[in-house]
Amino acid sequence: MELNYFNMPFAKKLLKNKKIKQKVNNCLNFLFSPECEMTGWVDYPVQYDKTEFKKVKEISKNIIKNSDVLLVVGIGGSYLGANAGIELLKNNKGKEVRFVGTNFSARDLLEHLDYCKNKNVTINLISKSGGTTEVLIVMKILEDFLKKKYKKNYLDRIIITTDTTKGYLREYATLNNIETLTVPSNIGGRYSVLTSVGLLPFAVAGLDINKIMQGAKTSYDEFKTNEFENNNVLKYAILRNYLYSDKKYATEVLGSFDPYMESFGKWWQQLFAESEGKDEKGLFVCPLSYSKDLHSVGQFVQQGKRNLIETLVYEENENKDIIIENIQDESPIKYLEGKSFNEINKCAYLGTLEAHKNTGMPIFEMKIEKIDEFNLGYLYYFFEASCAISGLLLGVNPFNQPGVEDYKTNMKNLLRNN
Ligand code: PA5
Repeated sequence: MELNYFNMPFAKKLLKNKKIKQKVNNCLNFLFSPECEMTGWVDYPVQYDKTEFKKVKEISKNIIKNSDVLLVVGIGGSYLGANAGIELLKNNKGKEVRFVGTNFSARDLLEHLDYCKNKNVTINLISKSGGTTEVLIVMKILEDFLKKKYKKNYLDRIIITTDTTKGYLREYATLNNIETLTVPSNIGGRYSVLTSVGLLPFAVAGLDINKIMQGAKTSYDEFKTNEFENNNVLKYAILRNYLYSDKKYATEVLGSFDPYMESFGKWWQQLFAESEGKDEKGLFVCPLSYSKDLHSVGQFVQQGKRNLIETLVYEENENKDIIIENIQDESPIKYLEGKSFNEINKCAYLGTLEAHKNTGMPIFEMKIEKIDEFNLGYLYYFFEASCAISGLLLGVNPFNQPGVEDYKTNMKNLLRNN
């Protein structure tokens, strides 16, 4: 990945500043120390459990053999990463993966059930805590659905991915002899995409999970060994932290020119929002999908309140293309004859970059050679590591999410008292 930045005249000096270096080194020392909790993901690309990895492959092979659809039931960090990767790299080597349990909409669940009624289905319940209401409610309905379809063998159609030892789902699996995969106790939801949480859905969808882990390892190696000046994880973290803390920017948008990146944007959004948005601090993060959003939010980005920074992710070699031929002479797009969609998309990208640069807005440009499994793994780790450093620089705990509890408590009280 190539990282460029624009409209940050302070960057060179800042990245050489001794005090900043010291501050970042303190964050790094803390992150790699045993005092920092929930950091099992940090060394994971080199220290992942190979037996578990093998088990993921075996289970996925069985699912591909005996199912038409895998229904993944999970919310937040228990589904966003898997959804992102599958949407980006969909292929026909595996089976369809659908995500449920992300809301309390009966219509949504009924539509999934209707879709699956004449299909063979396996269910992957994913919950680190094992007690998330959305997941347990949908689990109840899906278990009834499976019971009707597969009678006494219905439990063979369930895989539970949960904490190694704790929680209701772990107990339930043990009691009912249900197949399980594990989320290591020291890895939180939004940092868990490279564990079985993401790997099983990826493997069932036909993605090469070896390559995903190789990409993550390359990103890890660069993060761990590259000198400060060449360390993109640190650069992104330091600059976005400076833009927020010293330059008072309030929002970061993540723009991409690939509609299949939308779910990746949602994963990125959850990672940064849940990690940094606490103690009344943090950049508000918002993914945008161009060129669609250039015809809506694009107006604000170009001319609205000047408190935005933008991160653009751009794939240089998209492998599918269409050439536009035989355009009528009178058509206003005659000048595009012979051009391809990719050429046009590239010009849309460069035109947007130029227009946004001209506003003076700080912009990060992340150029990816090709969106494939390797680079997907690379990006997951890149953003996880940057987010952790950025959160530590901000002075918050990037690995908890105490604010998420409030709606749950209110909802439970309302349901119990009515
Ligand atoms: O990042 C997180 O920790 C959260 O978003 C969780 O993933 C989310 O709340 C779901 O939790 P669980 O996996 O325990 O069901």
